[in-house]
Formats: sequence, structure tokens, C-alpha cells
Amino acid sequence: MISDQTRWAGILFLPLLLGAQSYVGSAVCKTCHPDVWWKFYKNPHYKSIASGRERPERTGCEGCHGAGGEHVASRGGKTTIPHAFSLMSSTQILNDCLTCHSKDVSKANIRRSAHTDADVVCSRCHSIHKAQTRKFLLASTQKNLCYQCDATVRAQFDMPSKHRVNEGVIDCTDCHNPHGTPAATWRTGIRPRMVGQAPDNEEPCLNCHEDKRGPFVFEHAAIRVDGCESCHSPHGSMNSKLLRRPVVYTVCLECHNGAGTFGVANAGVVIQSAAHNMLDPRFQNCTLCHVRIHGSNTDPNFLR
Ligand code: HEC
Ligand code: HEC
Ligand code: HEC
Ligand code: HEC
Ligand code: HEC
Ligand code: HEC
Ligand code: HEC
Ligand code: HEC
Ligand code: HEC
Repeated sequence: MISDQTRWAGILFLPLLLGAQSYVGSAVCKTCHPDVWWKFYKNPHYKSIASGRERPERTGCEGCHGAGGEHVASRGGKTTIPHAFSLMSSTQILNDCLTCHSKDVSKANIRRSAHTDADVVCSRCHSIHKAQTRKFLLASTQKNLCYQCDATVRAQFDMPSKHRVNEGVIDCTDCHNPHGTPAATWRTGIRPRMVGQAPDNEEPCLNCHEDKRGPFVFEHAAIRVDGCESCHSPHGSMNSKLLRRPVVYTVCLECHNGAGTFGVANAGVVIQSAAHNMLDPRFQNCTLCHVRIHGSNTDPNFLR
């Protein structure tokens, strides 16, 4: 058995022998940071120690905190450890984590993301030493994590028609990628809002609502070009089916109002005709007849 004294001597000598910027190995850190160490066994980052195959600068504690030689030689101190997160800028933290994670997290996307713009970087959402979730080392459960900053969204998920996020049926990350996304292929790419993407660069909605995917012989241009959000509020709505407006026809007439190229006659929906008599309440429910509103394989007017 090694006496305490010999161990201390070892700890103090090792860095002196190897030079101040040397790697001392994670076992040395255990002496003074036992609380951190004992939890570290369960951390996915422990794999680098367990495998014994990584280079020192990629192994264990020093993989994130940098070479510990000087820190150990001076028996602690914040300024002696190269990567003391409490002293690092957001950009430095981002870069530190990305040295290993640029495969899981696209550098280009995260650097342009709204989170990075707002200085919300890795360690705001992930907690390496005090994680509250078993998967993904999150600093708190996903919902609570997101609601810390995006509180207004919570109320949207309490509306009468909603995706059941608050109930735990689906997660924010079913639709969003907190690490940023490439420009969207819908809405001419102008408003990604970190909305994630389904395999073919489509809206994430299609991961679950597959029947709306198509391709249809007759597409409703609104969906391909403007996206599902042109008619639906993705989080929640006071109106049934998550619609943006209380009555279906007010949704339709937002576009089919005679402007632009809507309708065959370039004049919007013919309000008074055999097909459309708006004075009759029956006609106000457009989808009573236009049942295939998300696209049809048989009828250009989506009637069947
Ligand atoms: C001889 C004891 C000792 C050893 C060995 C030691 N530390 Fe420390 N460490 C300290 C002390 C003391 C502090 C507190 C400094 C303070 O709060 O001012 C500290 C603080 C830190 C911090 C916090 C910096 C911050 O952001 O506030 C990190 C990270 C750290 N140590 C990492 C390590 C790593 C990695 C190792 C192994 C390579 C290690 N320490 C080994 C004593 C030690
Ligand atoms: C995956 C990167 C990573 C690894 C590996 C890592 N740390 Fe940390 N450490 C951090 C981050 C990030 C913080 C800042 C605290 C936070 O934001 O959660 C931190 C904070 C600390 C602190 C300051 C006290 C605290 O709990 O906040 C100490 C001490 C520390 N680490 C020691 C260690 C030791 C010892 C090891 C190895 C057993 C280690 N770290 C491994 C990323 C890492
Ligand atoms: C705004 C909060 C947030 C920020 C900032 C953030 N993450 Fe995440 N990260 C998450 C959430 C939430 C998940 C869980 C995703 C899921 O449930 O599918 C996750 C998952 C992960 C995963 C595992 C799954 C995957 O997508 O590969 C890794 C690795 C990861 N994050 C690393 C990072 C790194 C590295 C950074 C900084 C460069 C970072 N994260 C920044 C919230 C964040
Ligand atoms: C030295 C390389 C390295 C650094 C630096 C590093 N990681 Fe990791 N990280 C890994 C490895 C390796 C894994 C384990 C992957 C696996 O399980 O196969 C991992 C796992 C994770 C996971 C868990 C993914 C899951 O599926 O549960 C998260 C979250 C994560 N890292 C976030 C971070 C954050 C945040 C930072 C910066 C503070 C960071 N990492 C820095 C190498 C690193
Ligand atoms: C069903 C898919 C879906 C889920 C689940 C979801 N979102 Fe969204 N979210 C979207 C879409 C799509 C947009 C873009 C809306 C638009 O551009 O009109 C958006 C926009 C946002 C915006 C930007 C709003 C604005 O006005 O700029 C925030 C913030 C947001 N979501 C946060 C969250 C949070 C937090 C959660 C989880 C609690 C969440 N979202 C869950 C689909 C979703
Ligand atoms: C992770 C799977 C998932 C994703 C992604 C998803 N949804 Fe849903 N959606 C559901 C489930 C499940 C329901 C059923 C409502 C419930 O009981 O929670 C639903 C309900 C709906 C409804 C209402 C149906 C009704 O009968 O009231 C609409 C509209 C809808 N989703 C549109 C969208 C849009 C638009 C998007 C993308 C912004 C989207 N969904 C993304 C799973 C998903
Ligand atoms: C042009 C407007 C419009 C667009 C764009 C649109 N929807 Fe709808 N959607 C509607 C209307 C209107 C209803 C209600 C139909 C009814 O009352 O019968 C509806 C109903 C739904 C429903 C519930 C009923 C059903 O058919 O399953 C889901 C789910 C849905 N939409 C998903 C989507 C998804 C996913 C997208 C994007 C791919 C999308 N919608 C785009 C207008 C639209
Ligand atoms: C975001 C704008 C938008 C909304 C909202 C919208 N549409 Fe459309 N719709 C279009 C566009 C664009 C076309 C293609 C027009 C063209 O090719 O001239 C189209 C085509 C159609 C067509 C095929 C006939 C034609 O003129 O090509 C019908 C029928 C139709 N829409 C019905 C509806 C109904 C019913 C609603 C409400 C549930 C609705 N639309 C909501 C944009 C919209
Ligand atoms: C009672 C059934 C019915 C209702 C309700 C109905 N439509 Fe139609 N719609 C039709 C039929 C049938 C056609 C094909 C007419 C034709 O070929 O002249 C049509 C054609 C269209 C067209 C393409 C031709 C054109 O006139 O530009 C659009 C756009 C359209 N409807 C939109 C709407 C909107 C918006 C509403 C709700 C305000 C609505 N429809 C309600 C039956 C209906």
C-alpha cells in the first residue's frame, strides 16, 4: 500500500518531471476532486479512460480541462488549469466541446444558430458533472430546460388544440434541433427557427404525419412552398386541428383572395357560383368538399 505521503510526493513530482504543461492523467485529479471523480464513472466521457486508447489530450478530465500539470504542481487554483469553464467565454466553451463533437454537432449549423447568437452554448444545456437526465447529460429535463428561456411557449402547449409536449408525448426536439439547422428548403429558407428536418430536407412534421408527405400528383403549393405553418400553429392553438384561424375559410381566403395567381381565373375563389355560394354557411367549411387539402392523386381541386 502506498502511504499518503508517497502519493503526495508522486503527485507533486510528476508534473515537475514532465514540465508544467504536461498531462498527468485523471487518477491524479481524484485526490482533490473526489466528488467529481466518483460520479465520473457513469459519465459517457469515462469511456476515454476505460478504453486506454486515446491520446492524453483526449483522455478523461484533461480531455476537456487541458493539461493538468501546472494545476497539480500549484495544488489547485482556477487560473492554473487551462480550461476552467467558469473563466471561459462562450466561444471558448463551444470550441472546447467541438474538438471532439463536430461529428454529432455540425460546426457550421451551431455557429449560425440563434442559441449561439444569444450566447447559449453547450454548458448552458448540458451539465457534465451534475446531469439531471440519464441520456444526453442534460442540465435539467428537456422541457424545463427549454422553458427556462422560452417561457411563452409553455402557454401555447396548454391551448385546447396542441401537441402534447407538456404531457410528455412528444418533445421539443422532435421538431427542433437545439444545435441549429441548415437553411430550410421550404419558406425559401428564410426562417429556419431551428426547426429540424426529416430525411429529405422536409419539415419534421412528416416524420410522424407520413400521410401528408406525398409526393402527390396534385400538390397544394401552400404546403411545399410555405410549409405546414402557413395554416397550422405548430405548438398549439385555440382552434381545432391546430389551425391558425377559428374558421377554416378564413385560413383559405388569406391566400385565395383574388390577389396574385390564386384560382384558375386568376381572380381568387369565385364567391358566388354553383360551386361556391358563400352566403350558404355550408360553403364556408371549405374542407367539406376540398377533403384532400394536403394534396391529391386524383383531383386538381383536391375534391377527392
Ligand atoms: C492538489 C489538489 C488538486 C489536484 C490534484 C487537482 N486539483 Fe483541480 N482544483 C483544486 C482546487 C483547490 C481548486 C479550487 C480552485 C478555486 O476555486 O479557487 C481546483 C479547481 C479545479 C477546477 C475548477 C476551475 C473553475 O472553473 O473554477 C477544475 C476544472 C479542476 N480543478 C480540474 C482539475 C483536474 C482536471 C485535475 C487533474 C488533472 C485536478 N483539478 C487536480 C485542487 C486540485
Ligand atoms: C466533457 C468535458 C469534461 C470532462 C471530461 C470533465 N469536465 Fe470538469 N467540467 C466541465 C465543465 C463544462 C464544467 C463547468 C461546470 C458546468 O458548467 O457544468 C466543469 C467543471 C469542473 C469543476 C468545477 C466544479 C464544478 O463541479 O463545477 C471541477 C473541479 C472539474 N470540472 C473537475 C473535473 C475532473 C476531476 C474531471 C475528471 C474526473 C473532469 N472535470 C472531467 C467539463 C468536463
Ligand atoms: C439549447 C440547448 C443545447 C445546447 C446549446 C447544446 N445542446 Fe446538445 N443537446 C441538447 C438536447 C436537448 C439534446 C437531446 C436531444 C434529443 O433529445 O434528441 C442534446 C443532445 C446532444 C448530444 C447527443 C445526441 C446528438 O445529437 O448527437 C451531444 C453529443 C450534444 N448534445 C453535444 C452538444 C455540444 C458539443 C454542444 C455545444 C457545441 C451542445 N450540445 C449544445 C441541448 C443543447
Ligand atoms: C476529448 C473528447 C471530448 C470532449 C472535449 C467532449 N466530449 Fe462529449 N463525448 C465524447 C465521447 C467520446 C462521448 C461518448 C460517445 C459515446 O457514448 O460513444 C461523449 C458523450 C457526450 C454526450 C452524451 C451523448 C449521449 O448520447 O448521451 C454529451 C451530451 C456530450 N458528450 C457533451 C459534451 C460537452 C457539452 C462537451 C464540452 C463541455 C464535451 N462533450 C466535450 C468526447 C468528448
Ligand atoms: C410539432 C413540432 C414542434 C414542437 C413539438 C415544438 N416546436 Fe417550436 N416551432 C415549431 C415550428 C414549425 C416553428 C416555426 C413556426 C413559424 O415559423 O411560424 C417553431 C417555432 C418556435 C420558436 C420561435 C417562435 C417565434 O415566434 O420566433 C420557439 C422559441 C420554439 N419553437 C420553441 C419550442 C419549445 C421550447 C418547444 C418545446 C417545449 C417547441 N418549440 C416544440 C415546431 C415545433
Ligand atoms: C413526434 C411526432 C409528431 C411530429 C414531429 C408532429 N406531430 Fe402533429 N401530431 C402528433 C400526434 C401524436 C398528434 C395527435 C395529438 C395528440 O393527441 O397529441 C398530432 C396532432 C396534430 C394535428 C391535429 C390533429 C387533430 O386531429 O387535432 C395537427 C394539425 C398536426 N399534428 C400538425 C403537425 C405539424 C404542422 C407538425 C410540424 C410542425 C407536426 N404535427 C409534427 C405527432 C407529431
Ligand atoms: C393550406 C392549408 C394547410 C396546410 C399548408 C397544411 N394543412 Fe393540415 N390541415 C388543414 C386543414 C384546413 C385541416 C382541417 C381539415 C378538416 O377540418 O377536415 C388540416 C388538418 C390536418 C391534420 C388533422 C387531420 C388529418 O387530416 O389528419 C393534420 C395531422 C395535419 N393537417 C397536418 C399537416 C401537416 C403535417 C402539414 C404540412 C406537411 C399540413 N397539415 C399543412 C390545412 C392545411
Ligand atoms: C399560404 C397560401 C394558401 C393557403 C392558406 C391556401 N392555399 Fe390553396 N393554393 C395555394 C396556392 C399557391 C395554390 C396553387 C395556385 C395555382 O397554381 O394557381 C393553391 C391551390 C389550391 C387549389 C387548387 C386549384 C387551383 O387554383 O390550383 C384549391 C382547390 C385550393 N388551393 C384550396 C384551398 C383551400 C380549401 C384552402 C383552405 C383550407 C387553401 N387552399 C389554403 C395557396 C394557399
Ligand atoms: C360544396 C362544395 C365546396 C365547398 C364548400 C367549397 N368548394 Fe371550392 N370548389 C368546389 C368545386 C366543385 C370546385 C371545382 C369548381 C369548378 O370546377 O368550377 C371548386 C374549386 C375551387 C378552387 C379552384 C377553382 C377556382 O374557383 O379558383 C378553389 C381555389 C376553391 N374551390 C377554394 C375554395 C375555398 C377557399 C372554399 C371555402 C371558402 C371552398 N372552395 C369551398 C366545391 C366546393
